[in-house]
Amino acid sequence: MILRSNSKINFGLWIKEKRSDGYHELETIFFENKNLFDDIDIKYAENTEGKARAINVSFLQDSLNKEIKAEDNLAYKAAMLFFEESDIEGSCTITINKKIPLQGGLGGGSSNAATILKGLNQIFNSKLNQTKLLNLACKLGSDVPFFIIGNTCYAEGRGEKLQEIKNNLNLDIKIVKPANISISTKWAYEQIDSREFTADHNSEISNLILAMKTGDYNLFYKSIFNNFEMVVFSYYPALIKERNKLEEEGYKAVGLCGSGSCLFGIRES
Ligand code: C5P
Repeated sequence: MILRSNSKINFGLWIKEKRSDGYHELETIFFENKNLFDDIDIKYAENTEGKARAINVSFLQDSLNKEIKAEDNLAYKAAMLFFEESDIEGSCTITINKKIPLQGGLGGGSSNAATILKGLNQIFNSKLNQTKLLNLACKLGSDVPFFIIGNTCYAEGRGEKLQEIKNNLNLDIKIVKPANISISTKWAYEQIDSREFTADHNSEISNLILAMKTGDYNLFYKSIFNNFEMVVFSYYPALIKERNKLEEEGYKAVGLCGSGSCLFGIRES
């Protein structure tokens, strides 16, 4: 089974208070970018040799096989969790053709995990219902539940409280991965903690939702914001140059993808 694992962009990312469990409350609009995706090949075989569960994850790109240890990979964890929760034994071989940049804020690892949960569930004739899949997704990471639902969603909580919203915009999107800058999400949240944030973004969030519903491009462009930009742009000024380049190319709104380091440029398609 070969599946597409799409990336995401946050149009509006409001990071709020840090909770006692270490996560931050947030409000965001998640957008599934169907133009930038990984391909995932999942092969399942019943086990005849008596070994309970064998999961093998590899990348088509050899350099990634060296960089990412199989057991640390969210794709491996997703497959293992699915097998455990559905009490399935057997072997599963997963091959990922990675095209979504790593540590770019595009949710590649989270998307892979969600795609594997959905793919395995399809192979096993919807053994788990949507609520169960969302619960498993939540255990794997804050962005994983969004990729179970996909399309365009308004999110709250740590990103797992999702509501699908209408999106009547047709966007031409360009993603840029700046050379030599990779950002860890954990690091980016820590930088935010060291700053004082008091701004309220209720009106931008509701304007983004309204603009998507009514197809109002200008309202959409001017309502886009991302709290990570303030800390990430001041730490990596090279990103400001990249942002300016995208603006010069004629993109109507330019911003940071999630916690970075990728940038997006958008205009009406
Ligand atoms: O949930 P996930 O494992 O993807 O999150 C990675 C890190 O990002 C967490 O360990 C946490 O430091 C930070 N995070 C956060 N608040 C969120 C989501 C992520 O503080 N809502």
